[in-house]
Amino acid sequence: MMGPPGAGKGTQGELLASRFNVPRYATGDILRAADREGTELGQAARKYMDAGELVPDELIIELVGEALGAPAAMDGYLLDGFPRTVAQAVRLEALVRNTGRDLDAVVNLVVSDDEIVRRLSSRRVCSDCGTLAPTETLRTECPECPACGGELITRPDDRPETVRRRLEVYREQTEPVLAWYRESGMKVLDIRGTGDVECVQVRILAGLV
Ligand code: AP5
Ligand code: MG
Repeated sequence: MMGPPGAGKGTQGELLASRFNVPRYATGDILRAADREGTELGQAARKYMDAGELVPDELIIELVGEALGAPAAMDGYLLDGFPRTVAQAVRLEALVRNTGRDLDAVVNLVVSDDEIVRRLSSRRVCSDCGTLAPTETLRTECPECPACGGELITRPDDRPETVRRRLEVYREQTEPVLAWYRESGMKVLDIRGTGDVECVQVRILAGLV
């Protein structure tokens, strides 16, 4: 799953992973969980994430390498938010080759900057478990995490100035990955990421078959 911050990679990726019954590896979610657990990786990643910068390639590649080498990934997997640099894409090629598989497709969610800023300013996540609060939850009188009852907060990198930096980083470092995939002949699906979540999912499924 590729696309700018807030394009819906997590929302759509979860639906797709459960539909195809494969694990979803979202590098941002893994890093945030590591930060909540206070691990060395989490601490190393945090300063980059809070500033809207990318975490160094080496840390991320190690993390994805471990995930793809695990038995859970034997029958396929969905990657969300990785690769984000051409260097990561090149390393992913090697990792995938080692597992004797190929990537099937890149799903690129297309959403305007205005819509991204609107979405991320109203997003709330659980401070304890990281669950994304659904819109219905936010409309209730005393919203709390639907999974664990924890406090709902704004993600530190969803502050407007950090969102602007994340968008710049996306243009500078991640858009070239899409060009790289197109040139290499990969199936890249450009999917309009606006409208109902279910409609976006239908568009993706139609492109994948
Ligand atoms: P990461 O966690 O991957 O953040 P991101 O790419 O900026 O994307 P988001 O998770 O913010 O958005 P999303 O596209 O998943 O959208 P979502 O479904 O949540 O990365 C965070 C940081 O980690 C990076 O900045 C970097 O520091 C580091 N990192 C991660 N991977 C890395 C890598 N490979 N290399 C280096 N560093 C890395 O939806 C967003 C909101 O919109 C939600 O509120 C949702 O409810 C809403 N929404 C979703 N769909 C719709 C719809 N159709 N209509 C209306 N609202 C919608
Ligand atoms: Mg996400």
